Amino acid sequence: MNNLLKQVTDTFKNKWSSEPEVIATAPGRVNLIGEHTDYTGGFVLPVAIDREIIFAVSETLDNTISGYSVDYRNEASCTVGSYDPAHPVSWFRYVLGVLSELENAGHPLQGFRFVVGGTVPIGSGLSSSAAFEMAVLTAIEGLQQFKLSDADAALLCQKAENDFVGMNCGIMDQYISRSGKKDHAVLIDCTDLSIKTITMSTPGYSWLVIDSMKRRGLVDSEYNRRRQECEEGLKFAQSVFPERNIQGLRDITIEDLRPLKKSCDPIVFRRIKHIITENDRVLNTVEALQAGDINTVGTCLYQSHESLRDDFEVSCKELDMLVEILSEVDGVAGARMTGGGFGGCVISLIKNTQIYAAEQAIQQSYKPVTLPAGTKAEIWPIRISDGAHIIKKA
Ligand code: GLA
Repeated sequence: MNNLLKQVTDTFKNKWSSEPEVIATAPGRVNLIGEHTDYTGGFVLPVAIDREIIFAVSETLDNTISGYSVDYRNEASCTVGSYDPAHPVSWFRYVLGVLSELENAGHPLQGFRFVVGGTVPIGSGLSSSAAFEMAVLTAIEGLQQFKLSDADAALLCQKAENDFVGMNCGIMDQYISRSGKKDHAVLIDCTDLSIKTITMSTPGYSWLVIDSMKRRGLVDSEYNRRRQECEEGLKFAQSVFPERNIQGLRDITIEDLRPLKKSCDPIVFRRIKHIITENDRVLNTVEALQAGDINTVGTCLYQSHESLRDDFEVSCKELDMLVEILSEVDGVAGARMTGGGFGGCVISLIKNTQIYAAEQAIQQSYKPVTLPAGTKAEIWPIRISDGAHIIKKA
């Protein structure tokens, strides 16, 4: 039993003087490549990681939902059917969002008690919120004995986040938290929501996460602005190529960029250039990973970072500094920012024998003046894990 599971189970027993009926877990994620493409119907290639949210729950006979967070060390409650998006306990809103969407989807609820805890760092771009939503949903499915498809589960949790938490995210985080597969990446087609499990042939290399320790700042408003700019880009492309049936940015090719550039607003042009080239990089990365072509994977990672930095403008000094430091270490195949940006983490594919050298380089050279003196980046290997599932059912 891992520490978190023990902590959540013990807390449940102490608080509610009984064993939980169902315990569910849902993982955070790291996106290998395909950034900001999900909400344009593009391709993404995330993995689920061994940082998780655990949700332990038992049904009650009354109308009250009450629970405790071991991380925030406080309790929250509500009555079945009255889900307030402005509930004063902010972590509880993630639970309420899922419950509200479940009721909207025709799953009536009854009272329950829960304890929740997690190891996904908050605000570091590893999707603690999607993992939280998915853990709640998976636990309730276990309690009530039904199971949504992975795509429907992801859509429900995405809706909870969009409508209840107020973050207008795409589908990637919730989908990978549900459909992740141990030791595999998952290629998600965000237009038709089909998924492909990808076997990665990278012998002698490991994926590492480097947390810049910069927490996201103005991300929500910038995120929404990027979405809007992409929509403008799509409308513009439709007006330039009226004879083509362009449904999404996915239908625009790299060759189309030249004619588009002539009359497109320069900012909007750079945004769609990122999306179109990034979709291409995702598919190239998948091919290269399957073929064991480490050089091509690395090149795609660096190019993705440059595109996010220069064209999509969602990187920041700290993430750029980490990628720069890594690029000078022998045996580092590639590196890029991952997640929404403006802080959070970098991922890197590194030769096993050079991991120590990469860590040393980061410890010596990562000194961002924007963060409190002495801030150190945290580095850890990615252990690719399974998606959300039930750990225990009475
Ligand atoms: C956040 C969103 C995702 C996705 C990424 C960027 O994590 O929740 O839907 O858009 O940013 O790739």
